[in-house]
Amino acid sequence: MTTWNLHGTRSHLLVCNGSSCKKARGEEVAEAIEREIEKQGADSRIHTTVTHCNGRCADGCIVIAYPEGLWYKDMTPKLGKKLVRGLLQGEAMEENLLYTYDEGLKAVDGRGAKGKKK
Ligand code: FES
Repeated sequence: MTTWNLHGTRSHLLVCNGSSCKKARGEEVAEAIEREIEKQGADSRIHTTVTHCNGRCADGCIVIAYPEGLWYKDMTPKLGKKLVRGLLQGEAMEENLLYTYDEGLKAVDGRGAKGKKK
């Protein structure tokens, strides 16, 4: 059993590796994010958790950033690295942003709040 030292942790990335997101390169996305965190020396600052399905399979690979509450869709390894670099600079990545708790569902994919095409 692992006990993560939370001292210094500022961000938590949930990387979906449910079956649909795995098919959408979820494992590669998780590995790329973890490698970038290590490369940037940010292990104590950004924590990652690989999750089961987050209920947005059609948008996989899903990555969720807390405490901001930002949901990202169609994530790739390249975008995962960019997300990490942005977090370290205090900037939210705008690309592939699907949902925010403040503003609701983003219109990046033309889908409505229930995920149906408008
Ligand atoms: S498998 Fe990732 S949202 Fe369903």
